[in-house]
Amino acid sequence: MGVVLGLESSCDETAAALVGSDRRILAQRIASQDEEHAPYGGVVPEIAARAHADRLAPMIAAVLDDAGMTLDDCDAIAATAGPGLIGGVMVGLVSGKALAMASGKPLMAINHLEGHALSPRLADESLRFPYALLLVSGGHCQILRVDGVGEYRRLATTIDDALGEAFDKSAKIMGLGYPGGPAVERLAMQGDASAVPLPRPLLGSAEPHFSFAGLKSAVLRAHESGQYADADIAASFQQAAVNCVIDRLETALSGHGDLRSLVVAGGVAANMTMRAALEAFAAGRDMAFTAPPMALCTDNAAMIAWAGCERLPLQQSDPLDFRARPRWPLDPDAEPVRGAGVKA
Ligand code: KG4
Ligand code: ZN
Repeated sequence: MGVVLGLESSCDETAAALVGSDRRILAQRIASQDEEHAPYGGVVPEIAARAHADRLAPMIAAVLDDAGMTLDDCDAIAATAGPGLIGGVMVGLVSGKALAMASGKPLMAINHLEGHALSPRLADESLRFPYALLLVSGGHCQILRVDGVGEYRRLATTIDDALGEAFDKSAKIMGLGYPGGPAVERLAMQGDASAVPLPRPLLGSAEPHFSFAGLKSAVLRAHESGQYADADIAASFQQAAVNCVIDRLETALSGHGDLRSLVVAGGVAANMTMRAALEAFAAGRDMAFTAPPMALCTDNAAMIAWAGCERLPLQQSDPLDFRARPRWPLDPDAEPVRGAGVKA
């Protein structure tokens, strides 16, 4: 059995974990920065990078201690090398390089999205390639076809906001605080999902991509009109978002009938209305549906260590001068999508 030390610092979670290739999580720690960023209603890159720099090294010492291990017991050091906020990514990657150099163990520079893409296999031994992955978080919004380790095809992405970002921005509009997803979901429980007419951007369009900027703007207008209760806006927003996701999945997966499993990952996977809709969608197509436990769905280091474990048999490692990549598409052949308001 191999053991990999994983480091994650690409957004606002500082995390370290030790994972065995037998799927045992030997130790893991995670520190969220929600409190630091809450006053700003979103992640502030400079604050995030500083917090990672303060916390990561003691956290690595702590997970080794938790597992009763030393670096000598590890077979590789896996660190997120992108995509993400560059300051944070550099903290984790440089730490990983230093540990790899000092211990003589191979460095694995992991694509954060690959961590998400493979994490369902850490939780579920029976999940075989290929499968369809819906990745919906604050920073990512993609549908991927996962054919094997290193074999990812992006079927859809967002032309503007990520889905979690739309939840966060809607929450901010209604003064619900950050992170907004859970707050919107709680409020939506008391609301009427058909009360507020909201758009479903790109619904029915031939390309399977997502767009949420128009939905968010409509939430702003509904809120400012003073005509609707926030609970009704929250419920209607959530319903519109779910409708969009299901419609986009239908389009993205047409022609991919060989995919027999649908997996959801990312923070928005916590949303119960979303889960129920995805479950029904999968059942209707005779696909198995799985969602990894929430701790593996949101950003964490176990998924980075696991991506390293998946690579151990392939004997792939990366050089010590590997560059941190703020942008790093999982599927390099995917065409860039340009839409209104797309980020450069
Ligand atoms: O995966 P994650 O922890 O971090 C990244 O963004 O990578 O995802 C966080 C996102 C936030 O946008 C948050 O608002 C959203 O996931 N989220 C939810 C829920 N819980 C978290 N969105 C909708 N409903 C939820 N229950
Ligand atoms: Zn993530």
